[in-house]
Amino acid sequence: MTTTLPITNPVRTTDPLALADVDHVRMYVGNAKQAAYFYAHAFGFQVEQFADLTTGSREEASYLLRQGNIRLLLTTGLHASHPACNEVALYGDAVKDIAFTVLDATAAWERALKNGAESAQSPRETTDAIGSVTTASIKTFGHCVHTFVSRRGGYALGKMREGGTFMPGFAPTKCFPLNAYNAARPCGLICLDHCVGNVGLGGMNQWVQWYADILGFSLFKHFDDRDISTEYSALMSKVMDSGSGLIKIPINEPATGKRKSQVQEYLDFTDNIPGVQHLAFRCEDALETVAELRHRGVDFLRLPESYYDRVWDRVEGELHANVREDHDRIKELGILVDADDEGYLLQLFTMPLQDRPTLFLEIICRRGSQSFGKGNFRALFESLEIEQARRGNL
Ligand code: FE2
Repeated sequence: MTTTLPITNPVRTTDPLALADVDHVRMYVGNAKQAAYFYAHAFGFQVEQFADLTTGSREEASYLLRQGNIRLLLTTGLHASHPACNEVALYGDAVKDIAFTVLDATAAWERALKNGAESAQSPRETTDAIGSVTTASIKTFGHCVHTFVSRRGGYALGKMREGGTFMPGFAPTKCFPLNAYNAARPCGLICLDHCVGNVGLGGMNQWVQWYADILGFSLFKHFDDRDISTEYSALMSKVMDSGSGLIKIPINEPATGKRKSQVQEYLDFTDNIPGVQHLAFRCEDALETVAELRHRGVDFLRLPESYYDRVWDRVEGELHANVREDHDRIKELGILVDADDEGYLLQLFTMPLQDRPTLFLEIICRRGSQSFGKGNFRALFESLEIEQARRGNL
């Protein structure tokens, strides 16, 4: 299958918070070496670079995984005193950082602080013969941060996107046979479409305001939180949009329903500390992608049998979408379909990626629709409730 990388946003404005790209997503994990193997095998990521004791990294080990324009950085602490070790104990393997490429990380950090952000790391520049990378971070919800990254010389964004060295201290992986397998059988993930935060009761509007005030995001207009405040969903959500099509960050909070909210179940396993609930990766051919992921053993959320009894009436009848993919194949692969007045989308959710019922992934294929599949919420929440009950958490 062919994939086209999204265009990098050219930063022509004088706004220091203009975001050029999602530089990377960093996860703190218990064992980065093994996690790299999992994400490579299950989701087709290339394990391209690493930094560990052998490259002079004395405190942490990191693996850079890449697929399309997604860069996943898996980090583990090498000593108990490293923050990653403490956070893994508290939250399990989890997303720590959604990092953004900007023109000048120091200026972005200074502006964010001026807008009211709290610093997580003051600007730090690392330089070598290739070029230089500056990073500076601010705290967002819970234990998560946003790092601003600016790149110079051989570390420039364009070069890094094409496989150039990630940062000083990283080296290319020499022997990782799965890379050849993945190149021959790509999974077709292209970019990070959205990243969802779970916050505590009453926290949603506060964090929506935070993204508006600090980063200049705006409330995504296509979305109506009343749509998912059903007795089944028991959550509320608002979507914040970076603009320029770069990233959307929906914020969920638990709501009182008949059963325990899925957001509260998440928080029960993170010591009530907010964090990232799911990352949604976009693909161009949902059928090929989901078939390949299923072949690799990815465990997806199972839908109620009755889902496909009604889906075509809803999507093609009521919502007038013309779904070009083979309908029988969609059902066979267990993919969800929804539409709005701009088009339709195909989506599917994995089971939690670790033993705690916390982080999961979404695969999403957009055919015009820019929304999030609200028509699927009822069916989804029924499935989620079945899984929550199996875990004894309902
Ligand atoms: Fe999503």
